[in-house]
Amino acid sequence: MKKFLSVICAGVLAVGSFSFNHSTVTAETEQHDNVLIAYFSRAGENYNVGVVERGNTELLAEIVAEETGGELFRIETVFEYPSDYDEMLTVATQERNENARPELKTKISNFDEYDVIFVGYPIWWGDMPMAMYNFFESYDFSNKTVIPFNTHEGSGQSGTVSTIRELCPDANVMNGFAVRGSVAQNQSENARTIVQNWLDTNDFSSLVQHTETIYTIQDVRNLQDFLLHRPTEENLSGKAYDLNHDGIWNVFDLCLMKQKLLNQVDAVSSATVDGKN
Ligand SMILES: Cc1cc2nc3c(=O)[nH]c(=O)nc-3n(C[C@H](O)[C@H](O)[C@H](O)COP(=O)(O)O)c2cc1C
Repeated sequence: MKKFLSVICAGVLAVGSFSFNHSTVTAETEQHDNVLIAYFSRAGENYNVGVVERGNTELLAEIVAEETGGELFRIETVFEYPSDYDEMLTVATQERNENARPELKTKISNFDEYDVIFVGYPIWWGDMPMAMYNFFESYDFSNKTVIPFNTHEGSGQSGTVSTIRELCPDANVMNGFAVRGSVAQNQSENARTIVQNWLDTNDFSSLVQHTETIYTIQDVRNLQDFLLHRPTEENLSGKAYDLNHDGIWNVFDLCLMKQKLLNQVDAVSSATVDGKN
């Protein structure tokens, strides 16, 4: 088995050394595996849009994912909220009065691997849905960059950014943005422009580069040793080596790591050349 892995690794390393080329992996929007878009949204009957198959915030979250190259995650509760608008108003009032923490059905297993987290939600009675309190209390946001975004029908952000800052005191919570639910639902190009403007104004590409995990030759050595069942020079606990997020460390992660390392080298050398010119 060890021999088999060595052969695969050697092959992967050889491929990494000779064939990986920046231009072969560049997609239209660069994928960022340290960027997450977590959102809560409800389909059904809603103010100003009628009965919809997909919630307004969900549609907005998809635009954010397309524009940032981040990964989407849907925050769901065990309790299924009513589709009827009036019933929904009653349930939301009740949850708010009780300061409820509706149980979450979905969990982010690799939360540590994200550095920039967009968090999307609708405004309910001038606040976030109570499930969002549960969400923020369920993870450690220390040192993460949090970008709140929401949909609404007139309340804007409604003070939710300050609330999120209180819930995540050790995170860098940015001001974020708000979009009318009916715009997210029916005028997707306008919603996209709002997202693009926010990303441009806040220099998203440099924001994400500064927070992206940088891999070194030492990391390659560590992962290689791990895969070959050799003692590793460093303690690997907490290392972000599951680059393809499939729950295991294997040769594919090693391959991706080498590719990232080469891209980093490419970026540094072209910056140096530019600097000389
Ligand atoms: C229970 C409930 C309460 C709401 N309260 C507000 C509010 O206080 N202010 C506001 O602007 N919109 C309010 N809305 C409208 C939603 O914020 C808006 O429709 C949003 O886009 C819904 O997003 P979703 O489709 O992703 O769930 C409320 C909607 C519901 C269902």
